[in-house]
Amino acid sequence: MQVQFKIKRFNPEKESKPYWGEYTAEVEPTDRVLDGLNYIKWNVDGSLTYRRSCAHGICGSDVFIVNGRNRLACKFLMKQALAESKVITIEPIRGFPVIKDLVVDMEGFFAKFRSVKPYLINNDPEPTAERYQSPEARERFDDTTKCILCAACTTSCPTFWADKEYVGPAAIVQAHRFIFDSRDQGTEERLAILSDAGGVFTCRSIFNCVEACPRGIDITKAIYEVRQAMLFNKT
Ligand code: SF4
Ligand code: F3S
Ligand code: FES
Repeated sequence: MQVQFKIKRFNPEKESKPYWGEYTAEVEPTDRVLDGLNYIKWNVDGSLTYRRSCAHGICGSDVFIVNGRNRLACKFLMKQALAESKVITIEPIRGFPVIKDLVVDMEGFFAKFRSVKPYLINNDPEPTAERYQSPEARERFDDTTKCILCAACTTSCPTFWADKEYVGPAAIVQAHRFIFDSRDQGTEERLAILSDAGGVFTCRSIFNCVEACPRGIDITKAIYEVRQAMLFNKT
């Protein structure tokens, strides 16, 4: 079937402002929105620019604003998009400069991610085998291990748009993944970072992040638990 798309286009090197490009794609209802974009790029206008890689919801590279909400294009079906609107709109995610069309500069996002030390910190002597952990201890941070760093949460957060210091929900999710890992010894460092301005108390409980997350992570629970760890030393 033929489906109409409106895609926000912008080449800052050549154009003074963005505009809507209108396209028709030949797709099936069970195709993903990413298939529609690929059809347009491969058959209609090869200059259309967007990131994608795995096409299976793992690499996190194809989050766009589809019909007004942050969505992973390879996990959102055409029939779901068409149930919302006959013309499918696609825009780049908010909060970062557009490099071209749907590609934004993610450096600011990854700088916030790096700021919470998202790696195992353990100063004990190097073990000769694995660092053992009980299933119960592993379960403690299971939800936040699912993050694919797609930025759908952070770029849907009005607090993040308004406050450039805010680390954003994705960085807090990553901090949670290590703060509650029984093998890690960097909790105090991370909690000190997240207690600063722009840290975990900057969240205003707007909840856009939870709706946007394609992995179904309970982000506000993670934020709450990091706050509890900070206030009551509960890890
Ligand atoms: Fe993406 Fe969810 Fe991770 Fe945020 S928490 S970066 S929305 S996977
Ligand atoms: Fe933003 Fe989510 Fe908090 S949308 S304000 S990080 S609850
Ligand atoms: Fe990898 Fe969609 S292309 S998550």
